[in-house]
Amino acid sequence: MWTKDSLREVVEERLGDYLLIVASNREPYVHTYRKSKIVCQRSAGGVVTALDPVLKACSGLWVAHGSGDADKKTIDQFDKLQVPPDDPKYTLHRVWLTKEEEDGYYYGFSNEALWPLSHISYTRPKFEELDWEMYEKVNRKFADAILKEIGDRKAFVWIQDYHMALLPKFLKEAKGNNIITAHFWHIPWPNPEVFRICPKRTQILEGLLANDLLGFHIRYHCENFISTVEKEIEARVDRERFSIIKGGHETIIRPFPIGVDYEHIDHLSQSREVEEYMQSLREEFLLNYEFIMLGLDRIDYTKGIPERLRAVDRFLEKYPEYKGRFVLIQMGRLSRLHIPVYKNLNDEINALVEEINWKHSQEGWAPILFVRRHLSYPEVIAFCRLANICIVSSLHDGMNLVAKEYVSARTDGTGVLVLSQFTGSSRELEDAVMINPYDTEDFSEKIKKAITMDKKEANRRIIKMREKIALNNVYKWAGKILSELLKFEFKE
Ligand code: G6P
Repeated sequence: MWTKDSLREVVEERLGDYLLIVASNREPYVHTYRKSKIVCQRSAGGVVTALDPVLKACSGLWVAHGSGDADKKTIDQFDKLQVPPDDPKYTLHRVWLTKEEEDGYYYGFSNEALWPLSHISYTRPKFEELDWEMYEKVNRKFADAILKEIGDRKAFVWIQDYHMALLPKFLKEAKGNNIITAHFWHIPWPNPEVFRICPKRTQILEGLLANDLLGFHIRYHCENFISTVEKEIEARVDRERFSIIKGGHETIIRPFPIGVDYEHIDHLSQSREVEEYMQSLREEFLLNYEFIMLGLDRIDYTKGIPERLRAVDRFLEKYPEYKGRFVLIQMGRLSRLHIPVYKNLNDEINALVEEINWKHSQEGWAPILFVRRHLSYPEVIAFCRLANICIVSSLHDGMNLVAKEYVSARTDGTGVLVLSQFTGSSRELEDAVMINPYDTEDFSEKIKKAITMDKKEANRRIIKMREKIALNNVYKWAGKILSELLKFEFKE
């Protein structure tokens, strides 16, 4: 079984004197002003959840966008600081962006073009020339920051996600012999018919093919990527080695399904801190029902939140005897709000909650509690422990770690996971109650199935899922990628 220690050993053994640098858009720790005080929070989201324990285990350097309004107050003269601030384990180098850059690169090309393009959830991508220019500019900025860190040394650079598609090319163009890169694409890769509408498809593919190693969560996304390359650019695909050769350079393509820090969640969920949170959340939200269902998402149109609410509505239409006996607590962190579709989605959810609650409410009871606020990690785990049922209904998702976190937190072997078949996790968590979020009728039946599931059956399922998640933990994900990455040799 992979652990923090085995990961550290791999890095220590193979890294030698070389540098290990991680690059991502989202920074792991963000400093903000609250009233006149500076507070530090760990960022939410898949990438940070997965990589923070990894970096802690192998003390490297993380380069990311400094997005907090108090971030500049907490760095040294080289834009760096040690994190986590209260127990320093690794170095964070913050890259600064102007408003215009953030608009074009983050809100624009990353989240209005590449995000909807990669997730097939029927939101039309928007391609603006200025957004692309900013995307390019910011990728160069990241490259410059990394190149400055490396100087004349040699480095392994591990790049994260769709914000950085051009970074590998810029790094290789500047110092090809001194840098080896792995890139992990945390979101799905669509099929070639979907990808071909992107006006910048050649540049994106050429950027990614500068990598030595390119990873996706599941084999299906790797296959989609390879088919896209075959259709769009001149390159040779080596099916045997599962690699692509372009201009004499080979990129190895591999699936690496991401996991969670199972052991940590397992311990945390049995801690006093979590018990105390459970108590206070129970009081705060009056959670004294027979069944508590949980939805835990960033407010994003790929997560299928309206679909979930409609399924609960349908469930109550068909089974009114459950009125007053359960609540769906939908926790949602607002995100990317400057993008109109996100704002509209937030409004749509508000209206739906209002409508469904009005329709079914009785004697001080309403079926849905929609709560938007930041949750600390122990609070997330406390919610997972409080809920007998967790619903993950993404329309499309690279992996989805909430599903894995929920199961990891169920230390008493109870709980039912209702999971969209369109998540990467559904490949591993076959014992979840599987749904198609677009099929409201079936979804509502699956809610019934989850609520009425025999205790023994639920226990059998959750134990099987726990075993898989324990084995395929985040250290295994990072360990496998780093082992592959550190096998590459620098050219002289
Ligand atoms: C997804 C992406 C991450 C991103 C996260 C949160 O998991 O793959 O790269 O960090 O969502 O989104 P945000 O835009 O808030 O960073």
